[in-house]
Amino acid sequence: MTIFILNGPNLNLLGKRQPEIYGHETLDDVARLCTEAAGARPVRLLQTNWEGQMIDWIHEARTEAAGIVINPGAWTHTSVAILDALNAYEGPVIEVHISNVHKREAFRHHSYVSLRADGVIAGLGIQGYALAVQRIGALLG
Ligand code: DQA
Repeated sequence: MTIFILNGPNLNLLGKRQPEIYGHETLDDVARLCTEAAGARPVRLLQTNWEGQMIDWIHEARTEAAGIVINPGAWTHTSVAILDALNAYEGPVIEVHISNVHKREAFRHHSYVSLRADGVIAGLGIQGYALAVQRIGALLG
């Protein structure tokens, strides 16, 4: 089954938005890295700026995804609804942040998603996504 790579708000601008924080690589580069890291397992990379769409994809993952890698963007710090959706998902979940959120503003230090995530990666740039995919593979065996 597929690994879902879910991306929240503003990540469509990856590569253009605040490159000093998020780097110059794009979501297409993330997709390429994740495909390589997944080996034979299919990956589906999705991005939305709409919270309800993200929740619908997490619901879809209940039957369609072997695991979820999620960068919830700013919803990390605000969304009980995304936490609730992830709590209704039974497979492995890895939370990824491109930047080191703990080195940034205090409001980025708290994550609702971390209450559900099986692992959290922050500050490794887009390489964090590939490592998260590898970890999902290891958890699935
Ligand atoms: C982010 C960190 C969040 O605090 C921020 O709102 C983002 C991106 C990251 O990948 O470093 O949009 O999740």
